[in-house]
Amino acid sequence: MGVLPGNRVVFDRPGGLRPPVGFVRNFAQPEAVLLRSQTISWAAGLQRGRGVSRTSFATLAFFDAPPGLRRTESAVEGGTMTIEAKKYDDLVGNLEGFSPKQIEQHIKLYQGYVKKINEIRAEMEKIPFGERKDKANFSFGKYSELKRRESVPYNGTYLHEMYFDNLGGSRAKPKADLTRAIEGAFGSQSNWEEDLRACAETATGGWVLLTYDRIDEKLHHNQVWEHSNGIMLNQEHLLALDTWEHAFMIDFGTDKKSYLTAFLANVNWKVVAERLDKATQRARAA
Ligand SMILES: [Fe+2]
Repeated sequence: MGVLPGNRVVFDRPGGLRPPVGFVRNFAQPEAVLLRSQTISWAAGLQRGRGVSRTSFATLAFFDAPPGLRRTESAVEGGTMTIEAKKYDDLVGNLEGFSPKQIEQHIKLYQGYVKKINEIRAEMEKIPFGERKDKANFSFGKYSELKRRESVPYNGTYLHEMYFDNLGGSRAKPKADLTRAIEGAFGSQSNWEEDLRACAETATGGWVLLTYDRIDEKLHHNQVWEHSNGIMLNQEHLLALDTWEHAFMIDFGTDKKSYLTAFLANVNWKVVAERLDKATQRARAA
C-alpha cells in the first residue's frame, strides 16, 4: 500500500526490523529492502515516489501514493496487512444540501470497500506462492479472481477517501495558485465547472477526477467507470467527484445536476490546493 506523498512504502512493525516473510526469498533483491529504525521500507530504489505493496509484490504492482489509506498489521509474523477505515463523522450534518442520512449511508458504503480489500488480501495471502499459478485461470481460478477484483475495493477505498477529504469547504473559493492552474487548463473557472458537469453527466457509476498530468503539467478531468476502468496513468489526483447514484439518490433522486451544485458548494478547496502543491513539488523534484 502506498502512503502519503513522501513516497515510500513504510509498514510499521513495532519491534521488528525483518522484511516480511517471503520477500527476500521470493525476490532475492536485498538491495531493495531498506531497513530503518523501527520501520521497514520497500522503497526499492525502483522509482522515486513509488513503492511495492507487501501483498502485491508478487506482481511488483506499483501504485501512486494514496491520500490517506492507513494500515495496521497483525502481530503475527506474516500476518495480513489491513487498511483501517478513516472517520468522517464530522461531515454528517455539516454539508450544505446533504442530509445526515445521505452521508451516513455513503460512509457505510465506503467502509464496505475497506472491509472487502482487507478480505481479498487476506485470502490472497493464504495462497502460498508455490500454489498461485495453479489457482490462476482465465475462466476461473481462486487466485486470479481475487486478483481481478483487487483494484475495485482498493480504488473504492482510495477514491472515497479522496472524495470525503475534499468535502467540507462551505462555499470557499479556490485560491490564487489553484485558480491559475484551472484557468490555464480550462480557460476560466466557469469553463472548468462546465467541463466537470459534462464529464459527470456521462460518468454513470463512476467518478470524475481532477488531475494534474505529470507530462504536460496541466489539469485534466479523468472519467472513471466503476472504480478502476478508464483511469489515466501518470496523473496526480486533486479532486474526486463521486458520480455513482448512491452518492446522491437519497437527497436528490435522479437530479444529478442539483447534486453537482451541492457538491461544488461543499468542495474543500484548501485540500485541493494542498494536493496541487504537493503534486507540483513532486513534478519539479522528478
Ligand atoms: Fe460512493
